[in-house]
Amino acid sequence: MLSGKNILLGVSGGIAAYKTAFLVRLLIKAGAQVKVVMTQSASSFVSPLTLSTLSKNPVLMDFVNEEDGSLSWNNHVELGLWADVMLIAPATANTLSKMANGTCDNLLLATYLSAKCPVYFAPAMDLDMYKHSSTKNSLDKLQSFGNTMIPAESGELASGLHGEGRMAEPEHIVAFIQEDLRKGLPLSEKKVLITAGPTHEAIDPVRFLGNRSTGTMGFELAKKAADLGASVILVSGPTHLNIEHYNIQLIRVTSAQDMYEACHEHYSNTDIAICAAAVADYRPKTIASEKLKKQEGDMKIELERTPDILMSLGEAKKNQFLVGFALETQNELENAKGKLQRKHLDGIVLNSLKDDGAGFGGSTNKITFIDKNSEIKTFDLKTKSEVASDIWEEIISRIHA
Ligand code: C5P
Repeated sequence: MLSGKNILLGVSGGIAAYKTAFLVRLLIKAGAQVKVVMTQSASSFVSPLTLSTLSKNPVLMDFVNEEDGSLSWNNHVELGLWADVMLIAPATANTLSKMANGTCDNLLLATYLSAKCPVYFAPAMDLDMYKHSSTKNSLDKLQSFGNTMIPAESGELASGLHGEGRMAEPEHIVAFIQEDLRKGLPLSEKKVLITAGPTHEAIDPVRFLGNRSTGTMGFELAKKAADLGASVILVSGPTHLNIEHYNIQLIRVTSAQDMYEACHEHYSNTDIAICAAAVADYRPKTIASEKLKKQEGDMKIELERTPDILMSLGEAKKNQFLVGFALETQNELENAKGKLQRKHLDGIVLNSLKDDGAGFGGSTNKITFIDKNSEIKTFDLKTKSEVASDIWEEIISRIHA
């Protein structure tokens, strides 16, 4: 959720400021770029050098920098616009009150007023300060402006007293923001099942029947779904691709039968399923237990049908939104529509092998999306990542309609 995001951390002057060293590390570990703005008093609790080393960016404290006799201005407007998320942690009673009242007497406050992005604040103070009506007033006011509070936690305070007021632990702050950002996404709360890649159907212990699918389309669909907030189960046949995303569970399988079983294990819990795998239609009727020896003359391998996973998901469908792929060479639209009906689908993605750059194996695709009401949308040739976005846009517009 935070990967690639620009996070502007505003540190104000409370003892919890020492924990921002851990906070910066966690944000960086989550894939974010971090810049730190701090108040003068915060620098008594944590060294700017520590935070600049950890964030790999200069830490800013003043409106104006003086270096080698020349003056430069720290542009709070640019900083505010740079941020995808602003987080004020710790947010002291003083800073909260100033934020609530529009006071702008330091760089942190000017940046807060300039920021257009979502703003989170993590209060930190002694328990009586936290309970005080004027603090409550600031907290309410700030939330009414659309800022999000990460509530203080209970425990031992720096004063030695026990109670509510400790800044939320850095791990909790990061988890809170991740969850909050996820909730706003179009596929949050959705469970998605995707099949990808080829299947390998064993002939003997060393040989198999397979195809040239790389799995790219399915992996791109999984990545996009996870970025849009879904929890994804990606069932992939043999491929060199890998994917690491906290919202994606990758299940590697080999044969059509393995893929069928993995899909059915998770299907009842699924909201949206997309079958993008190039599943083998036939498999050897028997698998030789020893490597087959070559002999004089020809050889015949008897084949039998593999289960049609998509068809079986269509038959077992309750409330799932089910999408298949169709790779066609002739009568494309008619064949795809027929498949959509036969397999009880909600949508089908048509690739025509007549289109250059479409189909599997390559990095691009050209698709037509057809839904169960025969609404048809044709797209230009695009990268598979862009195609994945288009497919999700079509699905989201239908599940939210
Ligand atoms: O009928 P056809 O194989 O052309 O349908 C293609 C669609 O069906 C794809 O979505 C593919 O993932 C899925 N499929 C499947 N199991 C099979 C064969 C195809 O899920 N055995």
